[in-house]
Amino acid sequence: GAPVEVNIGKIEPGQMIRAEWRGKPVYVIRRTEETLNSLANHEDQLRDPKSEVPQQPVYATNAYRSIKPEFMVALGVCTHLGCAPTYYEGTFEEQVEGVKDGFFCPCHGSKFDMAGRVFQGVPAPSNLVVPEHSYPNENTILIG
Ligand code: FES
Repeated sequence: GAPVEVNIGKIEPGQMIRAEWRGKPVYVIRRTEETLNSLANHEDQLRDPKSEVPQQPVYATNAYRSIKPEFMVALGVCTHLGCAPTYYEGTFEEQVEGVKDGFFCPCHGSKFDMAGRVFQGVPAPSNLVVPEHSYPNENTILIG
């Protein structure tokens, strides 16, 4: 399929927008500095904190699983059986104590952090997939 352009110029800090690429939902979130700083705090609760399983392009194999730390780009497809995880902004502590924001899959309860990394003790085996993407200009992400 053709690459998909996403306009990111108007995403507020903390906000998520959805796009679609190859029939799959893509989540784009503008992460706050607070969120970025908190990512290191719960790594002992994650299954693959260093993203050793190649669920992301090589250029996104880093602490933020992204090109620009501010923007998270991931398929909204649970790595268990493919449901769309729900974004919990500020209320994720209902799911994981001490973690403010994250994703909860309503199907069987898998939990992911704000880099799409899966928590331990849930059915999903791996981190959310980061699709190939690039920034043709400051306000645009090209997915695919
Ligand atoms: Fe997400 Fe099963 S599909 S937990």
